[in-house]
Amino acid sequence: MIGDLSSRRINHQLFPKYGSFKKGYRSCTRQSAKRQKLNDEGGQFMDISSAKNRAVIQKKQAIKKSCLQPAPAVLVSCRGLDGEENALAVGYCCNCSYDPPLVMVGVVPSRYSHKMIKESGCFVVNLVDRSYKETFDYLGSHSKRDGDKLTAMHVRLEDGLKVNAPILTDCPVNIECSVVDSVVAGSHEMFVGKVEYVHANEKLIDGDGKIDFSQINFL
Ligand SMILES: Cc1cc2nc3c(=O)[nH]c(=O)nc-3n(C[C@H](O)[C@H](O)[C@H](O)COP(=O)(O)O)c2cc1C
Repeated sequence: MIGDLSSRRINHQLFPKYGSFKKGYRSCTRQSAKRQKLNDEGGQFMDISSAKNRAVIQKKQAIKKSCLQPAPAVLVSCRGLDGEENALAVGYCCNCSYDPPLVMVGVVPSRYSHKMIKESGCFVVNLVDRSYKETFDYLGSHSKRDGDKLTAMHVRLEDGLKVNAPILTDCPVNIECSVVDSVVAGSHEMFVGKVEYVHANEKLIDGDGKIDFSQINFL
């Protein structure tokens, strides 16, 4: 916890085995290490600076991978230059600008879809309803390189209006995007997509074109 280090003191009644607490970063680091050790040993962790006012909550080091949650569950559909179509489940996805409207999807380069998005320069983000879970799971666990999964799951498609990629008819919202940038960020290539057109089921849209997302039973 960052705070006024100079005002912190070890309470020797609570931590009798610890030496005096030096001011500054090193002391803070050392204290953190000792707190961690205490946590690892299953001991009590107490935030001394605010112990009087706060409940004691034990924290432990957790794994870092995909630690930002909740993550969305969308299907990204695409079409290669040879006309073949595909879709994959994506959790690494977010809005990244509202002016202009941009979204970002992260695709691992080994995915079959990766090459298709690279060469076509576009994709569609399809928001997924709970009723589509079986299809979502299939598209997220099978690769196009092993067979045509869209046909296998009887996925209904329509052409995008603005980009050369299919939209998934049975998803309530479909966001057509053209790639304007990409960043290789470790395991994923993050494609930044300019939002070219948003389709939404008629019953979800109000008179101003706003989508009532509360009506969607998201996965
Ligand atoms: C819940 C879930 C989230 C996923 N998120 C991503 C993701 O963000 N990026 C990615 O490249 N793959 C992700 N995957 C894995 C791909 O959907 C999966 O490897 C798929 O089979 C790739 O298909 P493809 O090879 O036909 O492109 C996710 C899978 C699941 C089930």
